[in-house]
Amino acid sequence: MKIINVVGARPNFMKIAPLIEEMRKNPKIEALLVHTGQHYDKEMSELFFDDLEIPRPDIYLGIGSASHTEQTAKIMIGFEKVLLKENPDLVLVVGDVNSTIACSLTAAKMGIKIAHVEAGLRSFDRGMPEEINRVLTDQIADFLFTTERDANDNLLREGIPKEKIFFVGNVMIDTLLKNRKKAENSKILEELNLEKKNYATLTLHRPSNVDVRETFENLLDAFTEIQKKIKIVFPMHPRTEKKIEEFNLREKITEMKNFITIKPLGYLDFLNLIANSKFVLTDSGGIQEETTVLRIPCVTLRENTERPVTVTEGTNIVVGTNRDKIIKESLNIIEGKGKKGRIPELWDGKAAKRIVDIICKKLMTTLMDERKLDNRIT
Ligand code: UD1
Repeated sequence: MKIINVVGARPNFMKIAPLIEEMRKNPKIEALLVHTGQHYDKEMSELFFDDLEIPRPDIYLGIGSASHTEQTAKIMIGFEKVLLKENPDLVLVVGDVNSTIACSLTAAKMGIKIAHVEAGLRSFDRGMPEEINRVLTDQIADFLFTTERDANDNLLREGIPKEKIFFVGNVMIDTLLKNRKKAENSKILEELNLEKKNYATLTLHRPSNVDVRETFENLLDAFTEIQKKIKIVFPMHPRTEKKIEEFNLREKITEMKNFITIKPLGYLDFLNLIANSKFVLTDSGGIQEETTVLRIPCVTLRENTERPVTVTEGTNIVVGTNRDKIIKESLNIIEGKGKKGRIPELWDGKAAKRIVDIICKKLMTTLMDERKLDNRIT
């Protein structure tokens, strides 16, 4: 079986790492890795290959940044050539970024089977680019692997046959559990002069938070208050950095004495940073899950989450972008009233193995049936 695995943007790398590792152990599988190049900075891409020991991509498309339409279209054109040359039995995509939908759609147009890892998550907010990517990818996927039971319900409600849906757990958590010990060797706390549990980590990059000046400023007002009580460390996404210059917000940031902005970090440094935080402020999806497993309180700076299990079982609270609410919840946590939570079902470090086992069994059967049919016709 020839499988093409796709990565494009930062949150894809930690999801693909355990899958590639598992596939390469299996003699029945020839696993190739394609990197679309949606993310290309050293800090947004290369560092993750090193930290997670992901083999270098077999094929690099080098697409880069552009409008969503142009980026998606360019990935499709590049990926079609790859599929024509390699003729795989399956394309495996992860998450919800533009590379996910672009490569799925290309495969679907060419009649190639698709596996979607992290299927069924829904924010029910169609203004979010990732939500469109999720809904559309799930409609054309043949194998849908889910991380939580709510995701299965969402897929069934959208008419996906239950035979295609497999609740397997969370590959991103496979990576976290595997690397947790190794991350303890990171020197990031010393480098930034931080004391364990005496700082908060912040990440912010959603277009809805940083592309609108008023919302971004309002968030900065909340951070201005919070950093009076606790140091805030902010590894900054390139999109956010650009917006700070565009909106002339640099001064507002430098005025905050306890607010430390740094470049985006690699996987191990970032894992160590959040694992030792008092709490995390974020608009990321994946970090809501990572903090749940690390049992670190998470304040989500969005109006919704596509990962409800992190709220019902984990350490997450979804506070939105209201300044006073963010301050209130953060102060609560500083006073020791953060959620402790519990680890969600099947987030046990074995999701990649379950996925590869299912693919092996089901895909092999389908391919054999199809070949039998071909033989009968010819
Ligand atoms: C993308 C994903 C988002 C994910 C995020 C993680 C989509 C629709 N969005 O958003 O789901 O949470 O990645 O980071 O796919 N840039 C650089 N260097 C890079 C990459 C980006 O400078 O290596 C800058 C460019 O100016 C670019 C901007 O960041 O235009 C945004 O990058 P893009 O890939 O469009 O989306 P993200 O905001 O990173």
